[in-house]
Amino acid sequence: MSVKFEFEFAPNLPAPASKWNGFPKYNFIGGHNDAERLPVDALIAAATAVLKREGSSLATYGLNSGPLGYRPLREFLARKLKWHAGIVCQPDEILITSGSLQGLDLVNSLLLSPGDTVLVEQDCYSGSLSRLSRRGVKVVGIELDSGGLRLDALANALDDLKRRGVRPKYLYTIPTVQNPTGTILSEERRLELLRLTRAHAVPIFEDECYSDLIWDGRRPPALYALSGGAGVIHIGSFSKSISPALRVGYIVASWDVLSHILALKTDAGSGALEQMVLAEFCSAHFSEHVLKLNRGLRSKLETLMAALAEQFGTAAEFEDPKGGIFLWLKLPDSVDTQKLAQVALAEGLAINPGPEWSTDKDHGRSRLRLCFANPGKETIQDGVAALAQICHREFGVPTRIANIRQG
Ligand SMILES: Cc1ncc(COP(=O)(O)O)c(C=O)c1O
Repeated sequence: MSVKFEFEFAPNLPAPASKWNGFPKYNFIGGHNDAERLPVDALIAAATAVLKREGSSLATYGLNSGPLGYRPLREFLARKLKWHAGIVCQPDEILITSGSLQGLDLVNSLLLSPGDTVLVEQDCYSGSLSRLSRRGVKVVGIELDSGGLRLDALANALDDLKRRGVRPKYLYTIPTVQNPTGTILSEERRLELLRLTRAHAVPIFEDECYSDLIWDGRRPPALYALSGGAGVIHIGSFSKSISPALRVGYIVASWDVLSHILALKTDAGSGALEQMVLAEFCSAHFSEHVLKLNRGLRSKLETLMAALAEQFGTAAEFEDPKGGIFLWLKLPDSVDTQKLAQVALAEGLAINPGPEWSTDKDHGRSRLRLCFANPGKETIQDGVAALAQICHREFGVPTRIANIRQG
């Protein structure tokens, strides 16, 4: 007699994952990188050199570097964070993680309990928003403008919460090439942000995963640098500067904080080979690679903006971002981008609808995010033309496509 065996799953699980059916023809979603700019030959050379020299250390957990991650990679990061973001830290104040998503999870595990409140930018990385909602955390969105987080809105939110006796657990911010808006917060605003949050004893969780992708290379010091590390946890990643598939990110924090985070990281170390190859590659080629990558990304962004101007005319509003891989668009109020995304996907075209990237679903309703890093220029042009046709069919806008009046 056969016994029917069924698992009894734990309560409150997220919705099950759907099966992967390959990438759509026009793929404007996610944070994929530019395949043409991936430094494959230099990565092969780095892998060969580091394995010949140190391959036998793969026999140990942690590569003789301890649980924080491969030491030469942390040494590279300590140097790079100093020249790039003004952060002064020791290699032992850096923990290598499996992508910065693991960094987000670890920091959230350290700081958050159900019912807590956190402050975030109103338009915000959906991966962060979904994580907070899974933890039963209340999210207060702070408005942005073309200069990034609005400090008058932050001051109002902090005062309002104080009146209600609520102290937010942290302010989560992506100050340098914000996702999805692409803004960079000025040094002046950063200093004011630190002053305000300090006055309310609210720590900062700074996510800098796009900060290498800036067209003119100029950026203000990180909040971590400006605060001398006090009350700030900083995370970053190699996903956007080199490759998301490698899954290598990092957390920077003072040891009194990092030691608690390390105790929560129970995976016996992130993938070693990736760390070794990155350390070898980055020490020799990082800056030169990022310069080339940025030139390619800027050129794709220009293709995208020109295609939008041609296909959507004034129906698509956007600001020219200072860096990154995304364009954040506003379509006419009549467009529901969640519906647009659904219909477009059925026709092989993927976009990120605004409500998933905003704490205010009405604000996000007619907005959407396009990632321009992965598709080639022709695909960008054809994809935008296809999107304009679908949008016109479903919502009656744009009324002119490629300067031809529709319908
Ligand atoms: C703001 C932000 N933080 C973190 C991540 C996670 O990146 P990864 O885990 O690949 O480092 C992303 C990915 O898109 C992101 O946009």
